[in-house]
Amino acid sequence: MSATVLFFVTASLLVNFVCSATTQTYTWKNVKTGGGGGFVPGIVFNPSTKGIAYARTDIGGVYRLNTDETWTPLLDSVNNSNWHNWGIDALATDPIDTERVYVAVGMYTNEWDPNPGSILRSNDKGNTWEETVLPFKVGGNMPGRGIGERLAVDPNDNSVLYFGARSGHGLWKSTDYGVTWSNVTSFIWTGTYFQNASSSYTSDPVGIAWITFDTTSGTAGNPTPRIFVGVVDTGESVFRSEDGGKTWAWVSGEPMYGFLPHKGVLSPAEKVLYISYSNGAGPYDGTNGTVHRYNISTGVWTNISPTSIDSTYYGYGGLAVDLQVPGTVMVGALNCWWPDEIIWRSLDSGATWSPIWAWNSYPDIDYYYDYEISNAPWLQDNTSTAQFPVRVGWMVEALAIDPFDSNHWLYGTGITIYGGHDLLKWDSAHNVTLESLAVGIEEMDVLGLIAPVGGPPLLSVVGDDGGFYHSSLETAPSQSFHSPTYGSTNGIDYAGNNPANIVRSGASSTLPTVSFSTNFGLTWSADYAASSSTVPGAVALSADGDTVLLMPTSGSPLVSKYTSTFSTATGLPSGAIIASDKSNNTVFYGGSAGSFYLSTNGAVSFANTVSLGSSTAVNEIRAHPSIAGDVWASTDTGLWHSTNYGTNFTQIGGGCSAGWSFGFGKAGAPASYPVIFGFFAVDNITALFKTEDMGANWQEISDATHGFGAASANVVNGDMSNYGRVFVGTNGRGIWYGEP
Ligand SMILES: *[C@@H]1O[C@H](CO)[C@@H](O)[C@H](O)[C@H]1NC(C)=O
Ligand SMILES: *[C@@H]1O[C@H](CO)[C@@H](O)[C@H](O)[C@H]1NC(C)=O
Ligand SMILES: *[C@@H]1O[C@H](CO)[C@@H](O)[C@H](O)[C@H]1NC(C)=O
Ligand SMILES: *[C@@H]1O[C@H](CO)[C@@H](O)[C@H](O)[C@H]1NC(C)=O
Ligand SMILES: *[C@@H]1O[C@H](CO)[C@@H](O)[C@H](O)[C@H]1NC(C)=O
Ligand SMILES: *[C@@H]1O[C@H](CO)[C@@H](O)[C@H](O)[C@H]1NC(C)=O
Ligand SMILES: *[C@@H]1O[C@H](CO)[C@@H](O)[C@H](O)[C@H]1NC(C)=O
Ligand SMILES: *[C@@H]1O[C@H](CO)[C@@H](O)[C@H](O)[C@H]1NC(C)=O
Ligand SMILES: *[C@@H]1O[C@H](CO)[C@@H](O)[C@H](O)[C@H]1NC(C)=O
Ligand SMILES: *[C@@H]1O[C@H](CO)[C@@H](O)[C@H](O)[C@H]1NC(C)=O
Repeated sequence: MSATVLFFVTASLLVNFVCSATTQTYTWKNVKTGGGGGFVPGIVFNPSTKGIAYARTDIGGVYRLNTDETWTPLLDSVNNSNWHNWGIDALATDPIDTERVYVAVGMYTNEWDPNPGSILRSNDKGNTWEETVLPFKVGGNMPGRGIGERLAVDPNDNSVLYFGARSGHGLWKSTDYGVTWSNVTSFIWTGTYFQNASSSYTSDPVGIAWITFDTTSGTAGNPTPRIFVGVVDTGESVFRSEDGGKTWAWVSGEPMYGFLPHKGVLSPAEKVLYISYSNGAGPYDGTNGTVHRYNISTGVWTNISPTSIDSTYYGYGGLAVDLQVPGTVMVGALNCWWPDEIIWRSLDSGATWSPIWAWNSYPDIDYYYDYEISNAPWLQDNTSTAQFPVRVGWMVEALAIDPFDSNHWLYGTGITIYGGHDLLKWDSAHNVTLESLAVGIEEMDVLGLIAPVGGPPLLSVVGDDGGFYHSSLETAPSQSFHSPTYGSTNGIDYAGNNPANIVRSGASSTLPTVSFSTNFGLTWSADYAASSSTVPGAVALSADGDTVLLMPTSGSPLVSKYTSTFSTATGLPSGAIIASDKSNNTVFYGGSAGSFYLSTNGAVSFANTVSLGSSTAVNEIRAHPSIAGDVWASTDTGLWHSTNYGTNFTQIGGGCSAGWSFGFGKAGAPASYPVIFGFFAVDNITALFKTEDMGANWQEISDATHGFGAASANVVNGDMSNYGRVFVGTNGRGIWYGEP
């Protein structure tokens, strides 16, 4: 949609009143990690058309499965204005008009997200969407997000949909394909359960769990009379209507253990409803639970739990039936943290089960699977000496058998999608091949990106998955950073005069939270100037690489020179943005609350040099890759430039009125100053921009199909080796690189 516009400007045009933003077409691709990298709370197959399946994520939108087993993202249009549409709380695929798909979107129901949620509807399998804003919030990244699906299309009359809200807002119904919605006030059980009163995040009621139509009731063209609704409540929690949702009643005989119904899956040929219960809402908790079978014909409830309630230490989450083979059922534990997740399969409606692994005689385990992760080898730490490697996963709420292929199954974990194509071998040989099948899903929360000259194309640090040495942008990394291994890595930096020297900081329960590499991040050594109790955070490495400044995520800034013990860096507020000069080894920079700070003694102490106009926040500081004292800062009022170590600054014009993360890339001849890429508000448009003339003129390089979500959550860096190349790290849609 955007056109390439070339600008030929003279120095006389480099003044603030020129309204000069335009667009430039960029080609965007994900930096491939091949394994997802985040929680997949829901996977849904269309029951009527072979090959249609979707996976929803909690912070990175929704994906559609392709015939070659890759996944296509469907919400990459989401930008700063509607960032919270990347939180997907529920998904429904239409069993009649199978091109139609619906998602319930919104990130948080507490104050972290001010906006109401929406139902997005598509009639082209998610290529394009229309939106109806709801009169309440939706929480795609709230507790209990793996429960569901709480959005459903009537299989006899697909103009009818139900959506189960959080926060006590009850059950909602549409009779016009999701365009308008009204409260089903006769459904009075809104769900009272919440995780914990201690915070607004955990104290909001999780609400309605799932809606399941009984396809064996009713006739095509008329609303289905029998509907089951599960509610996140420790009391009565499964309800039914026999009259198309006019009146509702508790399903009598429901076992009352105080557990929460996570899934309610119909087996139409058997005319039964299978229900998995856990005593926690998930996705992390659950220490007790049951699996029950409700016989719709007789009204009889039967406990079919794979593990006795007296000896279980997990609840149950993911639940699936084979629609082609009545009586074939699978269920996953929620959560079996040790020694590994368990998934069971039954061929007799849950009377008996076989597990995916079982203790032989402790500590021997029979693994009834072969493990195949060539799509994302980094899913296993090859330096680990763990006695029981975690492979089957954790947080298994999404579990599905392809309704057209009894051999094909998929399940979501806290980090990826697994599954396979030989599921029937579970029944013959009791041995299947478990494959990682998340190619195309790039869900990481990216916290830092650098591309030091002379090194690999990119180094990343990310939440949960540590970070990566990307020897190629097109190939999944073989491993994440190890030795030390950090769960989440918060920061990374390189030494400007010696760029093979890298520092990173992240969380470890046993090893120092700071580590060094002298070979561009290929191998690492722990920095014993820190310990496992040193709070990790952003890092800045001095130009020669001898001094590390650490801004812990809580507490005062800390500095260490020549790996001496970290001590407090004085004069710089906690939480300040930090950077090192890339040429002058003794110089570090800081920014906080609209003020700029300078250290000329190797971060031992900082002084407040100047206020950046009326700014109240400093969002990023970047020093020129090779000119000492040349430093830039983005703030809530724009972009600022100093050529004298931050003694004073000039505000950049060109219509720029706010900035977030930015970075430098190789200059395009005849320019000599690097290109600046970053998220800025220019002419009141908040988007990803670049400027090739130090901010006189700006080109918008994000576009209608690449919005990158929340500007303030993203990290940006340029590439000093490749003109035009920019890296964008998102909060939930992985890492991107773009080229003109
Ligand atoms: C962001 O997305 C919204 C909704 O699709 C759209 O109206 C708006 O133009 C987009 N903003 C930019 C800067 O592209
Ligand atoms: C919807 O109806 C339920 C049940 O009557 C009620 O508790 C809830 O407050 C209603 N929600 C809204 C947003 O009106
Ligand atoms: C609730 O959260 C508080 C604060 O995090 C914690 O101390 C407490 O143990 C939690 N309670 C339960 C029941 O989990
Ligand atoms: C449901 O009950 C009927 C009547 O007793 C019985 O024939 C049928 O086998 C039951 N279904 C299941 C799956 O147990
Ligand atoms: C699970 O909960 C049930 C019902 O409260 C209880 O009887 C049982 O002892 C619990 N199981 C374990 C292992 O604690
Ligand atoms: C299942 O097959 C894999 C791969 O051949 C093998 O490693 C594993 O031992 C088998 N499991 C059992 C219990 O035989
Ligand atoms: C682990 O993977 C890395 C990166 O591919 C490789 O260099 C190393 O040799 C592997 N280590 C082991 C123990 O397999
Ligand atoms: C580095 O910065 C310090 C403090 O501003 C200055 O005194 C020194 O001359 C600079 N060094 C070089 C090599 O520019
Ligand atoms: C900094 O201040 C000096 C002296 O007032 C002035 O000459 C210079 O232009 C200023 N530089 C910037 C970047 O504002
Ligand atoms: C940007 O928005 C502000 C506030 O609405 C307005 O005063 C200003 O004129 C706008 N600027 C441009 C370039 O559109």
